Amino acid sequence: MNIVLVGYMGSGKSSVAYQLSYRLQTPYIDSDKQIEREQHKTISAIFAESGEQAFRDMETAYLRRLTEQKGRFILSTGGGMPVREENRALLKQIGKVIYLKTDAETIYERLKEDTTRPLLQCEDPSGRIRDMLSVRDPIYEDAADYVVATTGQSVQEIVAKIVDLMEDDV
Ligand code: S3P
Repeated sequence: MNIVLVGYMGSGKSSVAYQLSYRLQTPYIDSDKQIEREQHKTISAIFAESGEQAFRDMETAYLRRLTEQKGRFILSTGGGMPVREENRALLKQIGKVIYLKTDAETIYERLKEDTTRPLLQCEDPSGRIRDMLSVRDPIYEDAADYVVATTGQSVQEIVAKIVDLMEDDV
């Protein structure tokens, strides 16, 4: 069974996917990285040149293709991926969906110096994170088969928790 990680920017999806991949000896795929590779552009350039909707269409198109992919993998998704209902259905089709649930303060501390997330390049990133998270948290919950709280947890602890969940999954 594939594992799909969802959650807000800075929730640790990529780091957890990387360690999980090592632990389970299963390749991992990062949807943002794949889209950047295919478009030959960074996410910031895609947002700036084509706009957010075009990026969202690329995400959906990429997910549709992933449903055909053979072999086991771990998927780390962009933070906005589960917002579209169609994407939530596709994610569930791809594998067990795990929401890495992280609080707004932790996210702000991790991302306050970051310049690669176009949605957070604004006057009040802390307020933006809180507002977006309050809208998205129920969406992530809805998308998920399992919710893993990450606040105060190391990457290794989160990985161990996911491995346990997958072993107990029937
Ligand atoms: C986004 C999250 C980003 C990236 C894009 C939009 C979002 O991915 O897809 O900047 O809407 O939350 P990460 O969650 O990997 O930062």
